[in-house]
Amino acid sequence: MSEPRVLVLYYSMYGHVETLAKAVVEGVAEAGGAPTIGRVPELMPAEMLEKSGAKTELAGDVIEPEALAGFDALVVGTPTRFGNMCAQMRNFFDRCGPLWQKGALEGKPGSVFTSSNTQHGGQETTIISTQITLLHLGMVVVGLPYGYQGMMSVDEVAGCSPYGASTIAGPDGKRRPSPLELQGARFQGRRVTKIAGRLSG
Ligand SMILES: Cc1cc2nc3c(=O)[nH]c(=O)nc-3n(C[C@H](O)[C@H](O)[C@H](O)COP(=O)(O)O)c2cc1C
Repeated sequence: MSEPRVLVLYYSMYGHVETLAKAVVEGVAEAGGAPTIGRVPELMPAEMLEKSGAKTELAGDVIEPEALAGFDALVVGTPTRFGNMCAQMRNFFDRCGPLWQKGALEGKPGSVFTSSNTQHGGQETTIISTQITLLHLGMVVVGLPYGYQGMMSVDEVAGCSPYGASTIAGPDGKRRPSPLELQGARFQGRRVTKIAGRLSG
């Protein structure tokens, strides 16, 4: 096949997931894929976003569910919210019924990454529970294997697990994704792209 078309679809309020999404995009391009970065629609009122100090400029256009059919792979980025995906991402998936009915995503790779404030605040449950939705859509779930050697490091506090890339924003949200975490996100982008190429080839 020619370049696998990979959609990196995310929601981000304070930019951590956005930064990881950009690193996934880099990984897709490094592996010879054609990346698109996109956001799910916002559900919070503008005044509430402003009060919460949400980021106003975010990378990529807002994507609607029907667009998913035009991609060979999907990489989903969501903040951890009570150990689960955020409502904006849940709502997007809840609008994917017609795609599910047509089997439009069956056999395509799907992968997940996340950000949380705390180190053990539910990153793994967020990624795994999001993977359940991808499985219902018929996707081939792709994680982040130990081929990404950075995952073995215990020299510093770091996200990333065999389930997917992640970052830890810290209790005040001020910590930014570290070089190690960004490496993990790029690795995940490369892996999804390579698998998309093999599955469609
Ligand atoms: C409603 C809500 C629930 C949250 N739940 C968790 C949680 O379960 N564990 C955790 O460590 N952080 C939690 N957080 C913090 C977010 O994960 C954090 O703001 C996010 O990772 C930042 O990503 P972003 O910069 O891309 O928006 C929660 C935040 C909100 C607003």
